[in-house]
Amino acid sequence: MTLAWQDDKEYMSYVEDLLATDEVQKLATYKQHVNSTRLEHSLSVSYYSYKLAKRWHGDARATARAGLLHDLFYYDWRTTKFDEGSHAYMHPRIAVKNAEKITELSPLERDIIVKHMWGATIAPPRYKESYIVTMVDKYCAVKEASEPFTQNMRSKWQHIFARN
Ligand SMILES: [Fe+2]
Ligand SMILES: [Fe+2]
Repeated sequence: MTLAWQDDKEYMSYVEDLLATDEVQKLATYKQHVNSTRLEHSLSVSYYSYKLAKRWHGDARATARAGLLHDLFYYDWRTTKFDEGSHAYMHPRIAVKNAEKITELSPLERDIIVKHMWGATIAPPRYKESYIVTMVDKYCAVKEASEPFTQNMRSKWQHIFARN
């Protein structure tokens, strides 16, 4: 079954170089929520955020790219602990560092990634696109914990985006 994002030419044109990297593909080997890998989760967040950014006249490209990279880290968040700070604080910063190894980040893209745990972390987003990603991330996390990925991708959001 092909998922909506793969058929969306504009979306693919924004993220295909990132999807082609080992760094992004490696996310498929990490479990994120009960029913999703980290790659599936990142694609859901990226694609839905991109759709909302388009609808609300934001920077759809930056939103798609930063959404895909927002959880670019390689450890099990259930077991790894840091001395420097909580997982919520640390992993967005680690994701920025990892993302910068495969692409150049604009200030907007950096803000989207660093602030995506807003609510658990204090610094508020600076841009509309950052608010989109932090809200979509939370929505996807809840959905992925309760539903299989394909059903999650297809049914719940389909009617919302049917007009695009
Ligand atoms: Fe995250
Ligand atoms: Fe996430």
